[in-house]
Amino acid sequence: MSRDLRRERPRVEPLRRNRPRLGWGDVPFSVAPYVPSPLIVVKNMLKIAGAGPDDVVYDLGCGDGRILFTAVEEFSVKKAVGYELNPTMCGSLQANIDERDLGDRIEVINGNFFLADLSPATLITLYLTTSGNSKLKPKLEEELGQGARVISHDFPINGWTTRKVDNPPHYTVGSHKIFFYETPDAYTRKSTILRSEEEESRWNRLRNLFLRNENGP
Ligand SMILES: C[S@@+](CC[C@H](N)C(=O)[O-])C[C@H]1O[C@@H](n2cnc3c(N)ncnc32)[C@H](O)[C@@H]1O
Repeated sequence: MSRDLRRERPRVEPLRRNRPRLGWGDVPFSVAPYVPSPLIVVKNMLKIAGAGPDDVVYDLGCGDGRILFTAVEEFSVKKAVGYELNPTMCGSLQANIDERDLGDRIEVINGNFFLADLSPATLITLYLTTSGNSKLKPKLEEELGQGARVISHDFPINGWTTRKVDNPPHYTVGSHKIFFYETPDAYTRKSTILRSEEEESRWNRLRNLFLRNENGP
């Protein structure tokens, strides 16, 4: 007799609390309501990010899992992991994973992604809010490895620079925007520019002082 998977509770993986410096109450919780990305946007996100067989994709706030399924079934990524707060959604997503026999490639975790270990991810997909992205930014900077990519539907990561100097600030699919970043370039390039600007203004101050001395009072 087949199991009624809808009645089963989703598998709840224990979360690694890898940020002990955060006290209780400091960890953000829900940072976006459920709104699914249109499939055309999902496909473009994965295409722009160059998703492929070497990738471990983490969708933070995975909803019905459409990014996870598309990444595995159409872009052949090695593994896709989704975090989602809504237990009902996780239950039906787990049933869908089991029905499609993708349990070895897709993992769904009914939990808060602010408590997750993001270090295994090579590609992070986001459809949150700009303020949610800002809360997530320090965690991404701390945990993602060199060369990991982050692709965000509609909302930028403020303070980060999109990939490649000549890239558009964002890609467009109909009325949707896609922001694409690569670590650590997304945040180090900006600080390099800032540092050189600082140096330049310090140099200008010294130069002006020197000229004033040269020209006399
Ligand atoms: C706009 S939906 C995006 C769904 C899916 N990624 C997509 O693009 O179709 C955002 C999802 O993030 C979930 N979410 C918000 N904050 C979360 C958190 N801290 N941890 C886990 N899930 C969260 C919400 O429950 C919601 O389902």
